[in-house]
Amino acid sequence: MSKQALLNPFSGKNLNLKNRIVMAPMTRSRANNEENVPTEELQGIYYEQRASAGLIITEGAQVSPRAVGYINTPGIHTKAQVEGWKKITKRVHDKGGKIFIQLWHVGRVSHSDFHNGELPLAPSPINPHEEVYTSEGLKKTPTPKEMTLSDINETINDFKNAAKNAVEAGFDGVEIHSSNGYLFHQFFSGTTNKRTDNYGGSTENKARFFFDVLDAVKEVIPEEKIGARFNPSLNNVFGMTMDEQTIPTFEYIIKRLNDYNLAYVHLSEPFTDVSNIPYAVTEIAKHFRPLYHGTLMINAGFTQEKGNAVIEAGDADLVSFGKLYISNPDLVERFENNMPLADWNQDTFYTPGTEGYTDYPKVTNTQYV
Ligand SMILES: Cc1cc2nc3c(=O)[nH]c(=O)nc-3n(C[C@H](O)[C@H](O)[C@H](O)COP(=O)(O)O)c2cc1C
Repeated sequence: MSKQALLNPFSGKNLNLKNRIVMAPMTRSRANNEENVPTEELQGIYYEQRASAGLIITEGAQVSPRAVGYINTPGIHTKAQVEGWKKITKRVHDKGGKIFIQLWHVGRVSHSDFHNGELPLAPSPINPHEEVYTSEGLKKTPTPKEMTLSDINETINDFKNAAKNAVEAGFDGVEIHSSNGYLFHQFFSGTTNKRTDNYGGSTENKARFFFDVLDAVKEVIPEEKIGARFNPSLNNVFGMTMDEQTIPTFEYIIKRLNDYNLAYVHLSEPFTDVSNIPYAVTEIAKHFRPLYHGTLMINAGFTQEKGNAVIEAGDADLVSFGKLYISNPDLVERFENNMPLADWNQDTFYTPGTEGYTDYPKVTNTQYV
């Protein structure tokens, strides 16, 4: 046993990890080739460098061309993309790491330029009034198209197909990106979902699309290898606004996930100060931990100290680190040796090439196992 809770191995019902430190999913926009294929030279090296994490969750990978909202993000829907990911999973596995892929659909946070002039898809035609990066620079989001039942069924199928591809590509599991204001979150929220059919209105209806996708995905990959991500107190970010139904909706979803035998549920603490919002929950891990009986992963703003504390308090099993992982490929070893951490450079979060990507040095030689 380590003195640090983060460094202890995790033996969950469905997950066995060498430590409790997870690399959070982060879009890095380096798949700048025609088919948005991740490559061994870029993504392969980047993820391999971080393989001492207990678990890596990849950047969001679009499940279909309709799922895209950013330039140069990798996909998991074509043969070439699967072949690209195979080399990456192999590199991580060869270093003793584990890697899940995050399955992503942005919904309305997109632009017609990505869809041959067609409007982005969403539960209802409500503009998020965001700006998205297209090949011609920043553009304002248009009012999206309300998804028909056939669009919904097609999207369910896209997730299933992407999960099947993930298995073929050698991933240890998939994480459904039901967080941060993207497509599923747009269905969950009453301010973005005004549907009057079975996919809107009641809490159960607003959650239906997510559970339909989960049920479809578990036909092609065992439940034990599926994770899902939520950001219940997301407010005024990515076009989302909380209302009095927001937290009850997430409580319903997370409690219902006890009926599934998932790898984990991944939650984020609020991204912004929500202390003045009466219907927000300010302490997500504390609030949701008693509601969920499986493995709980927590994220957002964690440091070594806070990460150890949240596990010791029993409020989470695993902690995912985002930005610290951009600039500290050997984050585990640095924690182990209580070493200083490198700062990240925000200017190179989404730029092409190796700069600010694979060129952050490791300062430790040891490989934590
Ligand atoms: C550059 C960057 C890209 C991100 N891309 C994604 C993504 O693709 N999927 C996702 O769920 N979250 C994404 N996030 C959010 C992170 O997973 C994480 O929630 C956030 O950085 C807060 O955690 P931290 O304080 O440890 O950085 C991204 C964050 C950053 C900084």
